Parts: sequence; structure tokens; C-alpha cells
Amino acid sequence: MTLAQSAASAASASAAAPAERPLVQYRPKALKLTINGKAVGPMQVPEGLMMIDFLHEYAGLTGSRLGCGQGVCHACVVILDKPDGTSEELRTCITGAHFFDGRSIRTIEGHAKRNEAGEVVELAPIQQKFLEHFSFQCGYCTPGFVNAATVLIERLKREPIAKAEVESTILAALDSHICRCTGYVRYYEAVKEVVMSTPGLVKDAA
Ligand code: FES
Ligand code: FES
Repeated sequence: MTLAQSAASAASASAAAPAERPLVQYRPKALKLTINGKAVGPMQVPEGLMMIDFLHEYAGLTGSRLGCGQGVCHACVVILDKPDGTSEELRTCITGAHFFDGRSIRTIEGHAKRNEAGEVVELAPIQQKFLEHFSFQCGYCTPGFVNAATVLIERLKREPIAKAEVESTILAALDSHICRCTGYVRYYEAVKEVVMSTPGLVKDAA
């Protein structure tokens, strides 16, 4: 090849469009689960997508809050209903959507009673008490606190506690939830009122 040919070849190579090399390649994978009692999917969802993003972008449920995104604040928790009838909180910012495949969860949208049109007609007791106690200010952390308190109440229905254990039990149940507006005392008081006034949760309640 002559020098002129070599130069022409280099020029045409540099003029060619650059090859497209995406840094991230999404592999779709089927996902099917139950959310708030309704079947969702199967639908194709990128493998590795976090559950909080699935809820917001695929399920149209935007009530779960993304706070720290690192598993610290617990604003993003949902309730996992387990086959043995127990329930637990799970952080959706650090749990992949496909972990929930075939499982049943509840989100903040699933607590209140709704009419046929989907309008809220009655709040869950814990939601009602949070309102009455003015427990929250900006409300960003509230879905997480509602879910935490609900899991606690459901546990106490199965395993009632003594009155002397109420304070420490509530504190332990809410301890991992961060509220930037520092509404901790009013959250605690609201949960305590529900615990003390719901029959069967405290063995020696007055
Ligand atoms: S957003 Fe999930 S723990 Fe903070
Ligand atoms: S009410 Fe604002 S973060 Fe808790």
C-alpha cells in the first residue's frame, strides 16, 4: 500500500460511525407477584432492577419512598407476607425486584379501605392514629413507619406481650426507621395507643 493509499484508508476509518457499546446491558426477565392482594405480571423486567424502581416505574405505586438508597433509613420498606402467615419488613432500595417473584407483598397503598372506584373510604387504625397524633411533618418517612407498626401489631396478635414490655417492644420495632423531621415521640405515642387499645396484643392490659 502506498503512503497515499494508507492515508486515505485511515481517513475513511476515522470517518466511520463509532460502534455503539452500551456500558450497561439490561437482560429482561419475567416477574410475577402479588401486591396488595392483586396479581401483577408476569411482565419483563430488567434483571437487577431494585424493587423500589419496579414499584415506581412498572407497578405505578409511588407511595414507597426512596430515601438513602443504601439500606439505612428504612423509608422504602414494604411488607412481605410469608406462607406461614407471618409478615416482615423488607427494604426495597437494596432488594432486587426478582427476589419478590412469586411472593406476596403489601405497600403503603394497600392499608386503607377503598371503594369500588379506588377511593380511600377508611384509613387503617395505625394511619388514623398517626394523623390524630400529628406524628409526621413532611411525611417522607411515614410509609415506612406505617409498615413497621403494622408488622409489629400483626406480630403481637400472634405473640402478645406483657404490659411491662410495651415500651421496649415498640422502640425496637421502630428503631431502624429514620425521620429527618424527628417525629419519633409522636410516632411512638400513636403506636402505643393502637397497641394498648387493640384487644389481644397486651396480655395484662387494663
Ligand atoms: S431508601 Fe431504602 S433504606 Fe433508605
Ligand atoms: S416526617 Fe419528615 S422525615 Fe419523618
